[in-house]
Amino acid sequence: MKILAIETSCDDTCAAVMENDRILSNVVSSQTNLHAKWGGVVPDIAKRAHQANIEPVVATALKRASTTMDNIEVIAVTIGPGLAPALGVGVNTAKELALKHGKKLIAVNHVEGHILANLAKNRNGKPEREIEFPALVLTVSGGHTKIILVNSIGNYAVIGETLDDAAGEALDKAAKLMGLGYPGGPILERLAEDGDSGFLELPRPMADKKILDYSFSGLKTSFYYKIKDWPKEKVAKNLHGLAASYQTAVFEMLLRKYKLAIEKCEPKSLMACGGVMANMTLRKQLRTLARKFKLPIFMPSKKILNTDNAGMIGVVGYYKAMRNEYVEDVEGLDRDPRYKI
Ligand code: KG4
Ligand code: ZN
Repeated sequence: MKILAIETSCDDTCAAVMENDRILSNVVSSQTNLHAKWGGVVPDIAKRAHQANIEPVVATALKRASTTMDNIEVIAVTIGPGLAPALGVGVNTAKELALKHGKKLIAVNHVEGHILANLAKNRNGKPEREIEFPALVLTVSGGHTKIILVNSIGNYAVIGETLDDAAGEALDKAAKLMGLGYPGGPILERLAEDGDSGFLELPRPMADKKILDYSFSGLKTSFYYKIKDWPKEKVAKNLHGLAASYQTAVFEMLLRKYKLAIEKCEPKSLMACGGVMANMTLRKQLRTLARKFKLPIFMPSKKILNTDNAGMIGVVGYYKAMRNEYVEDVEGLDRDPRYKI
């Protein structure tokens, strides 16, 4: 079964073609440059860029998969959570294509996409993974930070989540305060490599409570107050130490709650996903944690499967198609910016 998947929930215009759970093509048109000077994603700019890019991105995905709309059976599209104006472009495109070509439509949750990115296979059906459930997933991106218990594919329970900023957002905001570019996560990663993580003392909000929710806004505020009166030269001279201190605080908070959740849920396997999982330090820390619990851990190895992409939406589409979960009223389908998993 060939599936066309579409994803426009944030600032990447994405389309992919699947053969069941195998990704044949996975095209991402990034808008990072358009948003960089604002230090974050501007919804209306995202919407306009999606409108300009969606057709060529879909055409490229079909072409790279050596196929045409005629051979597509199902269209899967992200309906939320995400930025409403951005989501609207993908949802409308998917509806139009489904109606015009008489295809079945599947509505996908973006966060489920990040989780099932771990089940994506390449053209050759690799990797073959046997993930034992229940699995405990840490999803960390610019929009979400959640610990989710996956009882089985399609059956999820959110165990903990951020009460304010997402972890990626916290990294992006700190980078902005330091006068660095966007997105801040990868820039901080590079700077932190040879920085002293003890350079700046920062709090770990909610660290010692036994609850599993996160809060990153206090950390960001504390960072702001510590450096706000520094002359620019002092910030510039200490970028490595600042980045290392801040990144260490964010990751320590992430791991502490995740560890508590593992102890509480006693899962059979661990998974991690989302844009921040591109970070090598975090990946290493998670592997060490998994080893301590003697549990297997799954993380997408390819960068494109960690950050926003349509391949992961296609994987969800495949599993929903297997369960016959098609949209009944195609014309009536709407985006759902706060769609809960
Ligand atoms: O999943 P994603 O592409 O989009 C959302 O759904 O939000 O995640 C983007 C986030 C940004 O906050 C970005 O700074 C962060 O992922 N990120 C990283 C790295 N690469 C991307 N954070 C830390 N280290 C990285 N290497
Ligand atoms: Zn995402």
